[in-house]
Amino acid sequence: MRSANLTPHATGIGHWTPEQFVQRFKIYADSAYVAPKVRPGDFQTVMPWNSYSGMTEHDLLAIFEYLKTVAPVDHSFERFTPSTGIE
Ligand code: HEM
Repeated sequence: MRSANLTPHATGIGHWTPEQFVQRFKIYADSAYVAPKVRPGDFQTVMPWNSYSGMTEHDLLAIFEYLKTVAPVDHSFERFTPSTGIE
């Protein structure tokens, strides 16, 4: 499992707007949202998107504002590496 770069660097969320940040969470609270079927070997995140989608927009914006204050870190990451089936 790899977590994300949440610092305000271009390799993190430096280019995200506050609206994009809020939407990234709120999409899971939309009644039209249908979770994709996850098959063995597929990407499945441990990020609690569903739980956090219930936060108010105000609270999400507060988190975004805070994240803007941390030092930018230049760090790209590969979100998911498909299994080779060997492990
Ligand atoms: C308030 C707390 C949290 C905030 C604001 C937050 C925010 C975010 C955001 C914005 C992303 C997407 C970054 C991108 O696409 O570049 C992300 C990804 C991720 N988060 Fe969180 N996160 C939180 C808590 C957690 C927790 C508790 C876990 C694990 C126990 C976690 C694990 C991950 C992982 C593994 C990813 C990368 C995979 C994915 O995009 O789904 N996060 N997080």
